[in-house]
Amino acid sequence: MYSIEIMVEEHANICRMLKVVRKMCIGILEGQEVCDTDFRDVIDFIRNYADAYHHGKEEKFLFPEMVMKLGKVADNLITHGMLVEHNLGRSYVMALETALNQYKENQITDHKLDIITSAMAYANLLEAHTEKENNAVYTYAERALKDDVKTEIDDECHRFEEKEESVLERTKYLEILDKLENRYMKMSSSR
Ligand SMILES: [Fe+2]
Ligand SMILES: [Fe+2]
Repeated sequence: MYSIEIMVEEHANICRMLKVVRKMCIGILEGQEVCDTDFRDVIDFIRNYADAYHHGKEEKFLFPEMVMKLGKVADNLITHGMLVEHNLGRSYVMALETALNQYKENQITDHKLDIITSAMAYANLLEAHTEKENNAVYTYAERALKDDVKTEIDDECHRFEEKEESVLERTKYLEILDKLENRYMKMSSSR
């Protein structure tokens, strides 16, 4: 399905950012200063690209059709699985933001620890989440949904992708991703 190909590609971009997050946390553990601006960019990317832009598509176009058309198995997988994880991710990002605010006020190790643990909780959750979707949820949708439903989802997704607003969002967040990747992924670890 076109929509699923697009979403798998978005997972790859999200996972690139998760690697950056891990690298940023390693840097802190190795003594680098917490870069507030870069972490705010990460939060911006997570909230607007990974969540609003990508999860938005899953939650509006694909998941409702699966829950409606595929019965109890899909309901369990989506309502009690994927959607719960989306919410858990949101709460980790909120915790990261709180920790950054606290650290800005008072630069103590306690807050630094909270920055690292919430950032890594999010990164680990999303890594497993995207893998589950790629290998179980999306494949199940491809296999089980009827062709007319698939076409309808693809059309909705296509219309969304074409919107000027979406093109701008995509460009903006892929630039942030490139910038942070260039900054952090080239850094070598001290041990
Ligand atoms: Fe998801
Ligand atoms: Fe996803």
